[in-house]
Amino acid sequence: MLIVFIGPPGAGKGTQAQRLASHLNVPHLSTGEMLRDAEESGTELGRKAAAFMKNGQLAPDELVVKIIGQRIEQPDCARGCLFDGFPRTINQAEELDRQLSLDQRALDLVLELHVEEDELVRRLLRRAKHADKPRADDTPEAIPKRLEVYRSLTQPVLEYYRARGLLREINGQGTPEQVFARIRDAVETRQSS
Ligand code: AP5
Ligand code: MG
Repeated sequence: MLIVFIGPPGAGKGTQAQRLASHLNVPHLSTGEMLRDAEESGTELGRKAAAFMKNGQLAPDELVVKIIGQRIEQPDCARGCLFDGFPRTINQAEELDRQLSLDQRALDLVLELHVEEDELVRRLLRRAKHADKPRADDTPEAIPKRLEVYRSLTQPVLEYYRARGLLREINGQGTPEQVFARIRDAVETRQSS
């Protein structure tokens, strides 16, 4: 299956995509992780992306479309994969559809993780305080910017998928186990339809 996880920063996309990836035995593709890895390796791409990430802004579409495009061509994605944090703009969503259609493929499901804003901020600040490896964008300055970018650039992507009948809203509050049970139900419903 080809499944997209969409949700604001701190909604639990990474946490849940990782669980679903091992449940379905397909790769978990996080553009945020890919960009942070590129930054750590000191590549040109990583340096370019780091400046945007630190300020809570999106990296340029062409840059993320390129890394995802190369990744989905890898043999381990032949049975499907989970997209976490991609697409984040309408342009990225259109590009993904275009690239998949070249291989006669299409998305099966889009899961929107819904979490109240005060809970999102609590989660991100908690991670900033307790993580072994703190993230440069979990700061009181960058968090509101990330939320604003989500509202203005990524929320329209929800409508794009709703219009195509792919969107399922998932309550992302509660324990990670409770959220995962809701996701598993949505995936099983889609598999049996
Ligand atoms: P990205 O890495 O995707 O970050 P994000 O979406 O802003 O936020 P997170 O990854 O922190 O949230 P998440 O929803 O994955 O939640 P998580 O499971 O980690 O992107 C970072 C940056 O990279 C972007 O700002 C942009 O600059 C760039 N970028 C990435 N993709 C891009 C794209 N497509 N285009 C352009 N630029 C792009 O959980 C968060 C915390 O909450 C964790 O500590 C977790 O343990 C905890 N938690 C999880 N679930 C629960 C729960 N149920 N209850 C309590 N705590 C929980
Ligand atoms: Mg994440």
